[in-house]
Amino acid sequence: MKVASSQEADAVKLPSAEVYGKQPIVPIPDQPHPPGSAYYIMLGRALNGLTRRDQVVIATKAFYPVGGEWPNSGGLSRKRLLHAIDDSLTRLGTDYIDLYQIHRFDPDTPIEETLETLHDIVKSGKARYIGASSMFAWQFMKMLAAADAHGWTRFISMQNHYNLIYREEEREMLPLCLDEGVGVIPWSPLARGFLSGTRERGERTADTTRSKTDQYAKELYYSDVDFTIAERVVELARAREVKPAQIALAWLLAKPGVTAPIVGATKLSHLDDAVGALQVRLTEDEIACLEEPYQPLKILGHS
Ligand SMILES: NC(=O)c1ccc[n+]([C@@H]2O[C@H](COP(=O)([O-])OP(=O)(O)OC[C@H]3O[C@@H](n4cnc5c(N)ncnc54)[C@H](OP(=O)(O)O)[C@@H]3O)[C@@H](O)[C@H]2O)c1
Repeated sequence: MKVASSQEADAVKLPSAEVYGKQPIVPIPDQPHPPGSAYYIMLGRALNGLTRRDQVVIATKAFYPVGGEWPNSGGLSRKRLLHAIDDSLTRLGTDYIDLYQIHRFDPDTPIEETLETLHDIVKSGKARYIGASSMFAWQFMKMLAAADAHGWTRFISMQNHYNLIYREEEREMLPLCLDEGVGVIPWSPLARGFLSGTRERGERTADTTRSKTDQYAKELYYSDVDFTIAERVVELARAREVKPAQIALAWLLAKPGVTAPIVGATKLSHLDDAVGALQVRLTEDEIACLEEPYQPLKILGHS
């Protein structure tokens, strides 16, 4: 099971977000929670049954509505965040979240209201650290500066969209994070499986879980240039006798400022591959070859 093998790997964070529980994976009867919470209740049970709390790092996020939409069901207001953190703790069956992240920027809430509430959440012991996710660099810098000005808890991490076929974060966000000492934990490091060597040009759908179910990936990727880059990943993997996914992760790990990609997995072997990628070191020429076909893109993954 994922939690157990994560423990063996000794280096895994368990990412979640309020909104991901919207897709019920296994319904749990007789639970006083909305159906979308099932995944988190199960995750909490597995964590409590198989691990010591001080040996795992639990990260979750708040922003998107869960279990329906009504005024204050989402966003980063004080009212929402104070509910969201309590709901997450209940679902996960834990006393604290290690890394509590804001999933997106909220243009409808004053940033001071959000930041003071996050600070209060940390001071109350319900979260150890706070992080942020995809937004514009100017928005993130504004929040960092406001936290500093008021002496509130600072964001320690940025969870952004960054991989070999989406590199727009290299313009502003990565230099900002390096300069501000903020850790970078990119999402979709394999471009939702696109860089794993299983996707082909043309109409044929690869025989993998994500390629058959992940419609959003088609909105983000699958251009000609994306395929050219993915083909270079596969060629290099053959030459180096490693997996394509390991080349894509090794590239990311070689980028200045990247702390740890957040890998997704639909098989246990995916986790083993991810851990194995830590041993793959790319040369400057290999990196240049992988990067060479890239063309600038519009912003993808947030707006
Ligand atoms: N902050 C945000 O806005 C945001 C947005 C998106 C995701 N996230 C977070 O980021 C995490 C990772 O995102 P992601 O799932 O898109 O990551 P990803 O690592 O880019 O893609 C994971 C997919 O790649 C394939 N794969 C993984 N390892 C493989 C291997 N070794 N060999 C072959 N195929 C492999 C699997 O798909 P197949 O089924 O096709 O094999 C797997 O589901 C999510 O779980 C979520 O926590 C955050």
